[in-house]
Amino acid sequence: MAKPISIEVWNPSGKYRVVSTKSMPGTRWINLLTANDCRLEICTEKKTILSVDDILALIGDRCDGVIGQLTEEWGEVLFSALKRAGGTAFSNMAVGYNNVDVEAANRNAIAVGNTPGVLTETTAELAAALSVAAARRIVEADQFMRAGLYDGWLPHLFVGNLLKGQTVGVIGAGRIGSAYARMMIEGFKMNLIYYDLYQSTRLEKFVTAYGQFLKANGEQPVTWKRAATMEDVLREADVISLHPVLDKTTYHLINPERLAIMKKEAVLVNASRGPVIDEVALVEHLKANPMFRVGLDVFEDEPYMKPGLADMKNAVVVPHIASASKWTREGMATLAALNVLGKIKGYPVWGNPNMVEPFLKEDATPPAACPSIVNAKQLGLPSSKL
Ligand code: GLV
Repeated sequence: MAKPISIEVWNPSGKYRVVSTKSMPGTRWINLLTANDCRLEICTEKKTILSVDDILALIGDRCDGVIGQLTEEWGEVLFSALKRAGGTAFSNMAVGYNNVDVEAANRNAIAVGNTPGVLTETTAELAAALSVAAARRIVEADQFMRAGLYDGWLPHLFVGNLLKGQTVGVIGAGRIGSAYARMMIEGFKMNLIYYDLYQSTRLEKFVTAYGQFLKANGEQPVTWKRAATMEDVLREADVISLHPVLDKTTYHLINPERLAIMKKEAVLVNASRGPVIDEVALVEHLKANPMFRVGLDVFEDEPYMKPGLADMKNAVVVPHIASASKWTREGMATLAALNVLGKIKGYPVWGNPNMVEPFLKEDATPPAACPSIVNAKQLGLPSSKL
């Protein structure tokens, strides 16, 4: 018999059984579920990534909804099991949901929630931090210092790239890409080149207005350009940050050919999804071009890095922490819980998933709505009029 999976139970007499595959930051999400008649079971297994079998065991034969994580494979097996257990709701505690087979959820009439709107600035800040860390060789310098190698100031010691006046390239100028662009433009007075299928009028207006402000103050104005092709961004930009969603069209978007057209001293940042970069090709490129630098939050085969990457001094690597600020992670937990609770209660779906502040006010009762259900249309779920 399979080993029983360890859980912690809140409000054991609750009418609805909700499972969370992980403990999540904050307590508001727990309080909201338990105050609304949910029996909450939080998985306390020590292993980081749960298997499909582990999650099947958690779902059991009666379960109304599950809060899951981006490391889990949510497909036909889990959605059909959730349906058989009487469930109607699943929410990823993430904005991205490339780990979820939404078609399978549709077939099983399971609503799929995600958590947009709370991680925009936090994720953009990490992408900005990686950009600066890579450009100014912060990690290499830190390691050098801790190794006791610093024996005095030297003109050549850890010389990196100045950002001011250079060009920042953004591929995918949606919420996070635009927030990142603004940080780099406002913070470092960089010029912008971006590629997106959609025009980012707000971003363009911001750069124009900021450029006018700088000019009026006797400074060099910043400029913007919407590129006709992704290649134009790769050729022209000094720092490039990737912000597309991962799908068939963006898998290995950065490949050997595209790496080859980038500037030899460019900085490439990825805080979107690992498979957007061909990581084997990237390692080769880093080896051949020591002045080319990367800042990576995500990896092709998480939690692993492709061979050789860990040895590259021109790579800054962090373990998928772009959304890891306290406010954001607590907000994500709250939104994921409210997606599941809202569906169980038969609430409609919030009209604008990017304007989720009303759900996040600490001491207020959240709106009677699901904050963000990605397959609301396919399931014919009603929209909130609130
Ligand atoms: C994190 O990577 C997310 O998609 O929320």
